Amino acid sequence: MTDPTRVSDRPPAIQVDDVSFAWKPPAHVLEHCSLTVPPGEFCMLLGDNGSGKSTLLKLLTGLLAPQQGQVRINGTFGYVFQNPDHQLVMPTVGADVAFGLVGENLPLSTVRSRVSEALAAVNLAHLARRPIYALSGGQKQRVAIAGAIARHCEVLLLDEPTALLDPDSQIELVKLVQTLVKERHLTALWVTHRLIELDYCDRAVLLRSGHVVRDGEPASLRQILAASE
Ligand SMILES: Nc1ncnc2c1ncn2[C@@H]1O[C@H](COP(=O)(O)OP(=O)(O)O)[C@@H](O)[C@H]1O
Ligand SMILES: [Mg+2]
Repeated sequence: MTDPTRVSDRPPAIQVDDVSFAWKPPAHVLEHCSLTVPPGEFCMLLGDNGSGKSTLLKLLTGLLAPQQGQVRINGTFGYVFQNPDHQLVMPTVGADVAFGLVGENLPLSTVRSRVSEALAAVNLAHLARRPIYALSGGQKQRVAIAGAIARHCEVLLLDEPTALLDPDSQIELVKLVQTLVKERHLTALWVTHRLIELDYCDRAVLLRSGHVVRDGEPASLRQILAASE
């Protein structure tokens, strides 16, 4: 009998299948691009500026539709922007996390417990009443992640979430996502330029000329990219 918990038996969390996309045809940003991320994996996506990383994430969310090929996310997903000020909309930390649950028609007690559980998961339980404007950049990114956890998202898409952070907050955030992926069996696709972050993921892929040109061990991609810097 097959073991239902075996990762390889479960469908991919993220699937990009032979996708081509052009903002302004015929110049394609993505061309025959394929990528499969199994559930429970922390995968990083690298590539030069303009190589199509953000476009690929937008295709995954369904905001854009590919002209060719298919994308699929298996489960609910959350999206973390480079600049948290573009996604945190409520005056306080707790209210912002709760805001993501509007529309789910949950009893107030469930909303409260989901919010406190999500804030605890990102180590912000003590800041529930703190105004958003009084947070550091790293704390704001953790609020954005808490929003996804409160919604019970299984997949996190993070587009250069550390680009605006100082080195300490950067490492704190990447370690947090590593822990969340492991402990909650989430799947994360994390876009970055910062090679040091590769130490914390399970797998790294490089996007170039519209498709994935390298896919595998983070350490080997780190070596290749460091040598070309
Ligand atoms: N809204 C848009 N309209 C037209 N072209 C766009 C738009 N967004 C991105 N592009 C173009 O698509 C290409 C890939 O952009 P992007 O996906 O943002 O790359 P990356 O995230 O890897 O830096 C770039 O040439 C960029 O100028
Ligand atoms: Mg981008």
